[in-house]
Amino acid sequence: MVTEKILKQDTQKTIETETFQWTKQWYPVAVVDHTDSSRPYPFQLLGKNLVLWQNNSGKWSCFEDVCPHRLVPFSEGRVESDGTLMCAYHAWRFNSEGKYVSIPQSKNKETEAKNCADSKSCAIVYPTQERQGLLWVWAESGEQAQVESQLREPRVIPELENPSDKVVKLYWSMRELPYGWDLFMENVSDPAHVPVSHHGIMGSRYDEDKYYDMIPVRKFSTQEGFSFEIRPIKVPGMKQAIHDFQPPCHMRIFTELEGGGKSILALYASPSRPGWCRTIGCQVFVKDDQGKRAKGLGFFGLPMPE
Ligand code: FES
Repeated sequence: MVTEKILKQDTQKTIETETFQWTKQWYPVAVVDHTDSSRPYPFQLLGKNLVLWQNNSGKWSCFEDVCPHRLVPFSEGRVESDGTLMCAYHAWRFNSEGKYVSIPQSKNKETEAKNCADSKSCAIVYPTQERQGLLWVWAESGEQAQVESQLREPRVIPELENPSDKVVKLYWSMRELPYGWDLFMENVSDPAHVPVSHHGIMGSRYDEDKYYDMIPVRKFSTQEGFSFEIRPIKVPGMKQAIHDFQPPCHMRIFTELEGGGKSILALYASPSRPGWCRTIGCQVFVKDDQGKRAKGLGFFGLPMPE
């Protein structure tokens, strides 16, 4: 307990320094409703090949996508009814903690028990959690990562933490896109492109290609990002529009409307590998005093192909 407390204190100090640590972060990597829990789910994060899978009690685990025996991808394996992940090559089975529980080629039970107890034989496990309908993965493995990951909250949507009749969430959409995290974040920070690139959906390229102010609303911080208000407001019925970048990969576009309603466009872009990112997004509304919600964006208001 004492060691864990010291480690937590040291960790807290480390993550408060001004060096941004890309691997000591939570990233959303999958929409739960889009995954088939009967089979392993491969994906990439920061250039690593990883795999998610769900055991028979509903617990999700994330492993490096490589079996420690002969390096075959776990994603080619099978989720078994006994709550294990079976490798496709020699049928060795792993539990949700990444430990071997069965080696069918063992000579006898004693040999199998000895081999299963060997720490070299474990899968490489990454901390994982399910929040707000998304699967989040901490981008480091190991015991220390388990402790560190508990000290940091994923960048969730606060309005969804306390559900009520006033809060409406639309569909999650997800796409793996052939452009990098940096380009995505620059794009969603840029209000000037909206009426031009999204002509006919959000404004007009002929009437609204005008000057914008981007006024900071909180101090820039390596760990906490930045936020700015867009002026002037050009959309009728809109009181305020704020873009809020929260590292490592969340852009929250918050709009307050006349009558007390709110609209949040929550966008995430997890860096899959150089030149690619996995974008996940949805719209959330808080109804106004009359119980009405804003119209929102057409394409984000519809269920997208999974
Ligand atoms: S490579 Fe996985 S069990 Fe042999």
